[in-house]
Amino acid sequence: MEIFNTIITTQSYLAPFKKNNKTIGFVPTMGALHQGHLALVKQAKAENDIVVVSIFVNPIQFNNKEDLLKYPRTFETDASLLEAEGCDVIFYPDESQMYPEPDQSVYDFGLLDKVMEGKFRPGHFNGVAIVVKKLFDIVLPDKAYFGEKDYQQLQIIKALVEHKNIPVTIIPCPIYREDDGLAMSSRNMRLTAEERKVAPFIYQTLLQAKDKSNQLNPNELTHWVIQQIEENSMLTLEYFEIVDAATLLPVINFNDCQSSIGCIAVFLGDVRLIDNILLE
Ligand code: PAF
Repeated sequence: MEIFNTIITTQSYLAPFKKNNKTIGFVPTMGALHQGHLALVKQAKAENDIVVVSIFVNPIQFNNKEDLLKYPRTFETDASLLEAEGCDVIFYPDESQMYPEPDQSVYDFGLLDKVMEGKFRPGHFNGVAIVVKKLFDIVLPDKAYFGEKDYQQLQIIKALVEHKNIPVTIIPCPIYREDDGLAMSSRNMRLTAEERKVAPFIYQTLLQAKDKSNQLNPNELTHWVIQQIEENSMLTLEYFEIVDAATLLPVINFNDCQSSIGCIAVFLGDVRLIDNILLE
């Protein structure tokens, strides 16, 4: 496995693969890897000739300084996990490589980046779009793998690829969960033991909501979920919204769209967790 810190060394290494029509699978990450990331690497490995993983904690997608400072950085462990998974290249740049000067690009994804995460984390998706576009330009992947836990991010990246005509296929991968249902996230390692015990309640509530989606309308179901979360004194709800899975527009009647998804963001202590469930 190769580890490169610069754009030029990464590009020089990958160029002959491109030239010989070898396919490049790419998994962009911010490190602090868990089984969910490794599942993306495994799938990328099965579907491509060579797999590149980037590890870069992208400062411009953090609208909260504290969150950026506390974001776990575990490069040594990440590198050994990736090596064991058969990753071929780690691209591990520092900020001066990625942003020799500030990138002022402004993306407009219409409604996609205004709702849910976009409402609560201003500038977040613009920062994601900037870094993902840069990473795609460096790695020139044939396929790029993204987890469905960050469902809104996935829709925005699909839109980015379409708007900018980037020749990459975006592969969505299912949410990877702990045995008790908690969606895997790099942030989970910041939960205290007590918070960790409470965390599965989020997914349990989503599962119950799915069950109830044939008895309640979206508005009633939203209120039911809000009430469940608010009754748990350790959780602070940021949002729960039922939206069209393709457009992210709010769903008024379940029959009005092909598939709907319930998306949630919750604080557990000072750790912000997101999750979602397809309601159909
Ligand atoms: O999902 C993430 O880890 C990040 O948002 C990404 C896509 C690597 C961009 O920094």
